[in-house]
Amino acid sequence: MTHPRTLRVDYDKTTAVVCVVGSELNVNLNRGAPPSSKFFSVKCTPNVQYTINPPPQETAPLAQIPLKGNSVLLITMSSASQFENDSKLSVQYYANNKEVLGKAVLHLTAVEISLDVDADRDGIVEKNNPNKGSWKWGPKGHGAILLVNCDSERTYWKKPDTEQDYISNVSDLKDMSAMVLRTRGPAKLPQGYKLTLHISQGDAESVRVFRSRSADNKKNAMTDNVLYKYLLKDHPLVLSSEVLSEEVPYFGGEAEMKFYVEGLRFPDKGFDGLITINLSLLEPISEGLPETPIFTDKVVFKVAPWIMTPNTLNPVEVFVCSTEDNYQFLKGMRNLVDKSGYKLKICYKYENRGDRWMQDEVEFGYIDSPHHRFPVVLDSPRDGRLQDFPYNELLGPDFGYVTRVAQRKDVSSLDSFGNLEVSPPVTVRGKHYPLGRIIIGVAFPTATKGRNMTKVVQDFLWAQKVQEPIALFSDWLIVGHVDEFMTFVPAPDRKGFRLLLASPDAAYKLFRGLQNEGHGEAKLFDGLEDEQQLTLNELLDDDSLQTENNYVQSCIDWNRDVLKRELGLDEGDIIDLPILFKLEEDEGNQYRAVAYYPDMVNMIVLGKNLGIPKPFGPKVNGRCALEAEMCSLLEGLGLSCTFIDDFASYHKLLGEVHCGSNVRREPFDFKWWNLEM
Ligand SMILES: *[C@@H]1O[C@H](CO)[C@@H](O)[C@H](O)[C@H]1NC(C)=O
Ligand SMILES: *[C@@H]1O[C@H](CO)[C@@H](O)[C@H](O)[C@H]1NC(C)=O
Ligand SMILES: *[C@@H]1O[C@H](CO)[C@@H](O)[C@H](O)[C@H]1NC(C)=O
Ligand SMILES: *[C@@H]1O[C@H](CO)[C@@H](O)[C@H](O)[C@H]1NC(C)=O
Repeated sequence: MTHPRTLRVDYDKTTAVVCVVGSELNVNLNRGAPPSSKFFSVKCTPNVQYTINPPPQETAPLAQIPLKGNSVLLITMSSASQFENDSKLSVQYYANNKEVLGKAVLHLTAVEISLDVDADRDGIVEKNNPNKGSWKWGPKGHGAILLVNCDSERTYWKKPDTEQDYISNVSDLKDMSAMVLRTRGPAKLPQGYKLTLHISQGDAESVRVFRSRSADNKKNAMTDNVLYKYLLKDHPLVLSSEVLSEEVPYFGGEAEMKFYVEGLRFPDKGFDGLITINLSLLEPISEGLPETPIFTDKVVFKVAPWIMTPNTLNPVEVFVCSTEDNYQFLKGMRNLVDKSGYKLKICYKYENRGDRWMQDEVEFGYIDSPHHRFPVVLDSPRDGRLQDFPYNELLGPDFGYVTRVAQRKDVSSLDSFGNLEVSPPVTVRGKHYPLGRIIIGVAFPTATKGRNMTKVVQDFLWAQKVQEPIALFSDWLIVGHVDEFMTFVPAPDRKGFRLLLASPDAAYKLFRGLQNEGHGEAKLFDGLEDEQQLTLNELLDDDSLQTENNYVQSCIDWNRDVLKRELGLDEGDIIDLPILFKLEEDEGNQYRAVAYYPDMVNMIVLGKNLGIPKPFGPKVNGRCALEAEMCSLLEGLGLSCTFIDDFASYHKLLGEVHCGSNVRREPFDFKWWNLEM
């Protein structure tokens, strides 16, 4: 219960009071008493309860109680009034000789008011949850949840629903959180009293409130002015950045008014996602003066974070681009996706305009609440020629869109979302991450210069909170993406997954073993017409390549240690894949790494089926030794390896299967609000 409200009462006057059931009125008895009063007595009708402080010795209700300097009367009412003034309370004052000096009379009208939300997170707006005014994480937590209405229910001229301040289709209401104003009381509020909803200026940037007009059939009590406003639409806008405070009608009797609350922006730097909405009962003072609030009810929402989906979640749809030259790759992908039983979505030339890097332009995620959830694509500030694809092709009913706008000069290759991944669920030194942890690549922590993921995107990712990011060192690569040296695959044992890391050491070990077994003349790039072939002997004789790969291995090992620490992994959770790199001078005259042959770790993971870049490794007994090694490393986990030829159309352009594809996955069963934070 909130603090009691101080009520002024004067003797020889009748004061009309509106009292909200559940709240308390505090009357200073001495302040309103006639001079030289020494005793008082109190009488009231049954709906009124009172206590006297300090408590009097006498017990009989009509007894004359000594009036003290600090005598206070605390008044509550147990149920709503049927009529205005239907309850009464009077205080009679007496002199020392018990002579009556005066009498103060209260005419009381009780109303029940409760602004309600789904604070217990079961999808239903319960009545007057005691925790509705605060927000707490965890299975024992509480607090209502709001979605950013970032999909588009419009049929024509689509744009995110957040960008219009009216509801064009009732289907939009399911993206919003219900809020109910429950009232009970006389047919109308006493003259001059008003109910208003209000929000702060800051919160108004993040939320809009609409009202349903369906309850207005019982609208007898509405003033013409209010009625006119609400007649305009079925779901009039009540609160927005333009209107921070708005009167809402009071219907009389027992009534419920439904509101729809729409989230407008995601948590971000400086915005933790919490929003407060207040409802106040205003009391008139006198003509020309502003009303004062005599009762305020408060509800709190938290905006749902954007959540990424790791490789261990089931795929729903696979996305690839069709270009002039990638027929071979598309054929391989189509076979794999068909075999796995998922949907393949092809982005055609008119939309991709030659940009094949489907991984880099978008990241798929979702938002979730107890009442609704839908996928949301995060559009990268990379803005290659694929830049219109997420907005034009993905945004739609129950498919949301969010982006972060960066200055052109701040955007580098590290802003492509091959550099944005997420781990499966992990437990790290006792701390649970049931939604996994986001992984990005940045410049080496001690570097004073170097490329980084742009600040607006990093700020956004960190602010989502539920998949606390890990920053790896990826600037050593020309392209600079974490997916060039790591991925996760599902596993039936241990932590439910393995971390796969590219490993030059593993490649040298494999190749030296083959050389020892007499396969030194087996050729890399065997079967590729336009590619200069190279024997294992030649490769193993190349000292500078070995030196370059020692450097690469040390970069990957640095990341390996970070991943072990931040994901709580043991050596047994990691598999090293035989992959070599080479250093090349990039545009900035820096030596950075690229894969020497197709980078097999850059794979697509579709349940148990892996689509792996075909490595064109040395053939031993007619079989590619790299493929054989991959199969032997992964098939024990129940995984099936399919090798996809991406050599000409992706590998030669410094990307592979993962860079050229994307997967929308099913959301987690785990509910983000059940996280213990
Ligand atoms: C309720 O009581 C107040 C104060 O006595 C009075 O001004 C008002 O007119 C009354 N209202 C009704 C509907 O009787
Ligand atoms: C409203 O949305 C539904 C579901 O998306 C759609 O089927 C319907 O055509 C829309 N109605 C209008 C008037 O746009
Ligand atoms: C809402 O009410 C609380 C107290 O209940 C108050 O602290 C806060 O400032 C109010 N906010 C607005 C926007 O009126
Ligand atoms: C790059 O981003 C990381 C992670 O936010 C930050 O710690 C680092 O200072 C940044 N480095 C540079 C060179 O801007």
